[in-house]
Amino acid sequence: MSSIGFCVLAAGKGTRLNLDIPKVILPILGKPMIEYTINEINKIKSPKDEIGVVVGHGRDQVKDAISQYECTICFQKEQLGTANAVESYFSGSSTLSGHDYTFVMCGDTPLISSEELESLKKEALGQDLDVVVATVKLSDPFGYGRIIRTEDRIKIVEHKDATEKERELQEINTALYLFKTSFLKESLNNISNDNASGEFYLTDILEMTTKSKAVEFKAFSTFLGVNTLVQASEIESLLLKRIIEKHLLSGVRILRPETQYIESSVDISSGSVIYPNCTLLGKTKIGANSIVESGSVLKDSELENDVQILSQSRLEQCYIKSHANIGPFARIRPKSIIGSHNKIGNFVETKNIKTEDGVKISHLSYVGDAEIGARTNIGCGFVTCNYDGANKHKSVIGSDCFIGSDSQLIAPITLGDRVYIGSGSTINQDIPTDAFAIARSRQVTKEGLSKKFIKTKKNKA
Ligand code: UD1
Ligand code: MG
Repeated sequence: MSSIGFCVLAAGKGTRLNLDIPKVILPILGKPMIEYTINEINKIKSPKDEIGVVVGHGRDQVKDAISQYECTICFQKEQLGTANAVESYFSGSSTLSGHDYTFVMCGDTPLISSEELESLKKEALGQDLDVVVATVKLSDPFGYGRIIRTEDRIKIVEHKDATEKERELQEINTALYLFKTSFLKESLNNISNDNASGEFYLTDILEMTTKSKAVEFKAFSTFLGVNTLVQASEIESLLLKRIIEKHLLSGVRILRPETQYIESSVDISSGSVIYPNCTLLGKTKIGANSIVESGSVLKDSELENDVQILSQSRLEQCYIKSHANIGPFARIRPKSIIGSHNKIGNFVETKNIKTEDGVKISHLSYVGDAEIGARTNIGCGFVTCNYDGANKHKSVIGSDCFIGSDSQLIAPITLGDRVYIGSGSTINQDIPTDAFAIARSRQVTKEGLSKKFIKTKKNKA
């Protein structure tokens, strides 16, 4: 079996993005663009194959972005053109020259999937060909290299160098090629930079052999590249459509798909319903038969089955157990572990808390750095005073407690089980199990005295 080296060109700056980052790490649906290419390669890669990524501009940023992947990083000092980039690939590691075939592709075409790679591989391997190039026909081929099929060979002429007549050709070079490595290495020596851009064009290699094939693919959108943020958003929309279709086909109801933003890493189980205008990010995982209502943002959060997230809630790095009901307008901050059958209601903020089953925090509260036992009911307007200006402190509340509305716990503090706190209390001492506590000043009522305080407006006349 032949082995393949995969050469991913990623040294370019991406000037037309007008951003201060190297193009290939621009996030598309939350993932650096180049990750899509590497993931697709990994689907077809055999153990003896190898990936080499050619980096240049922002090399450290690109290196960091792909550090979790097994690949060789090759450095191109100056961006002298795509042929020079391939030379940098071969000089980056001696093993890369040892593969029978070399796939060359760009790091800015995130829609190309393993299917296209596989079909190009089928065309090339086992045939007596030096190179196979993937092409598509575009109604507006402006800017691309054109494919010229002559009697005995294929040529590629770059847009800038093409004649008026050649520019009318609609079949373009997608910049996805599979070369016989020996042919590629030898031909690189024969490329000049005598062209409109003064660059060493990889495309000049095509006409150096008669043993070539141009394979035309029908789905042209698959080969779209990112040069500007307009193209990035078009590609993002296409990927989003794919992701949403996958969820719909697996039994997830996604209402008004065109309003949703769902990153590729999000997992949703069947029977769940996502209402319009939701943002689901990162490693978010939604169990079966759950509901996420409109305007909610979920980031790196996990929901078990039968959870309801009511409208306009924001959840980040939290874990919500089954049958919990969150929101509307709840903010569940990192390290919140919400027990099953909990009710976390409107205008409640939580951070670093763990609640057991059946806890209710129904309205207008801040609960941070706390543990709350099963079935405890927290009234409206409750606050854990967890921060002393320098350090955070913990509040521990037992099971079956009742915390009256408008109370505060000054942490660190521990309440036993079945504690009852009267409304409006500021509690700064521990309370034992089965105790009642109240901490507010006594009411004073003076009959007839209100007229001293009630002001009436003077008549304007
Ligand atoms: C290239 C092809 C063109 C094709 C088009 C498809 C050449 C000469 N032209 O043009 O025929 O139609 O892709 O999108 O190859 N890069 C480096 N080092 C360099 C130069 C480029 O790593 O010195 C990388 C870029 O980061 C990019 C890729 O190579 O990922 C393609 O380079 P780019 O300048 O975008 O080529 P195009 O003009 O798009
Ligand atoms: Mg390009």
